[in-house]
Amino acid sequence: MSVFRRQKSLVGLDLGSSVVKAIELTLEGPEPVVTGFARHEIPPGGSIADAVTACFQGGRFKSKRVVTSVSGQSVVVRYVSMPKMSENELRQAIRFETDKYLPFELDEVQLDLQPLKRAPSSNESSKGKDSDQQAVLLAACKTRAIEERIQLVQGQGLSPVAIDVDVFALANAWELCGLPTEESEAGEPRTAIALVDVGATRTSINVISGGETCFSREINIGGADMTQAVARAMSIENFEAEAIKRASEAHELEVNTAIQPVLEDLVGELSLSLDYVEHHEGVQVEEILLSGGGVLAPGAAQHIEQATGRKARTWNPLEGLRVDASRVDVEELETWAATLVVAVGLASRVRNS
Ligand SMILES: Nc1ncnc2c1ncn2[C@@H]1O[C@H](COP(=O)(O)OP(=O)(O)OP(=O)(O)O)[C@@H](O)[C@H]1O
Ligand SMILES: [Mg+2]
Repeated sequence: MSVFRRQKSLVGLDLGSSVVKAIELTLEGPEPVVTGFARHEIPPGGSIADAVTACFQGGRFKSKRVVTSVSGQSVVVRYVSMPKMSENELRQAIRFETDKYLPFELDEVQLDLQPLKRAPSSNESSKGKDSDQQAVLLAACKTRAIEERIQLVQGQGLSPVAIDVDVFALANAWELCGLPTEESEAGEPRTAIALVDVGATRTSINVISGGETCFSREINIGGADMTQAVARAMSIENFEAEAIKRASEAHELEVNTAIQPVLEDLVGELSLSLDYVEHHEGVQVEEILLSGGGVLAPGAAQHIEQATGRKARTWNPLEGLRVDASRVDVEELETWAATLVVAVGLASRVRNS
């Protein structure tokens, strides 16, 4: 028995393009408890580094150990089919196959892979008998992007323990919440849910079936496009449009009308992705779980539900998690909960740190 049980804490640091968000989870026994929270909006012309400084000055965090993430063009994720072999052998073998899957040179990227439980889908298993093949998730990130993240974090006196990928952090937050997966009947298509995070500059999608990812993608549409649409429609500056967009009660109809074309573009791309995954994976996407600041725009969630013909709702990644109210502004946390999915997913690694 140990009298001094070491508490494990980890900060999930989401370096968003418009808002830096930090959530600290501390393991109390097996239970992850929210012990720190801060968010800081990056002002026009401001830097991510300054926003991180502001977060760590303003929030009360026990730990300086952080997990952050990369996203965008420096990251490529592929779902591929490989002959059945151990994970170690896969790691060796994939190095000879990367030119088949990746638009990057091997010496400029860091690779990671994860064998998946499901069988390869029809488009993945182009050669060999299906039974000899396994589905593998392959992620590659430009080494330079990872190094930039590490330098940024270390420059703030923080210690980076892992660099994740935004779309996978979504899935980790969902898993932490322990949301139930619907079982499908024999012979029916497997059910799936789509996690869709609408940020300021991009929308991240991760489709999950049978408890694991089967598709992920980023779309370069987000809340900043909505702000610009409002600015154009009302002939005002972006900063004014941003304020008007958020004061939804006062300007709901105008904002809703102005952002329609952005929502239509977003839903068009989202529907293409969901149709693709249903066709190629033989799954049925039953529900869309929405997050990110972009879905706070008036009518956004309803529009996505109607236009995709699927159930859609905003979800709270903190649901069911205990919050240490002596350290965290609970009201502020609740207000921004839907924007904290990536940060929570990053911090969820505290369970295996
Ligand atoms: N009440 C609101 N109504 C409408 N939009 C909002 C509201 N609050 C925030 N937003 C929008 O949410 C976006 C920020 O959300 P979020 O924090 O998820 O983005 P981010 O993580 O910084 O961006 P990205 O993931 O693209 O890098 C901004 O575009 C902002 O305008
Ligand atoms: Mg984001």
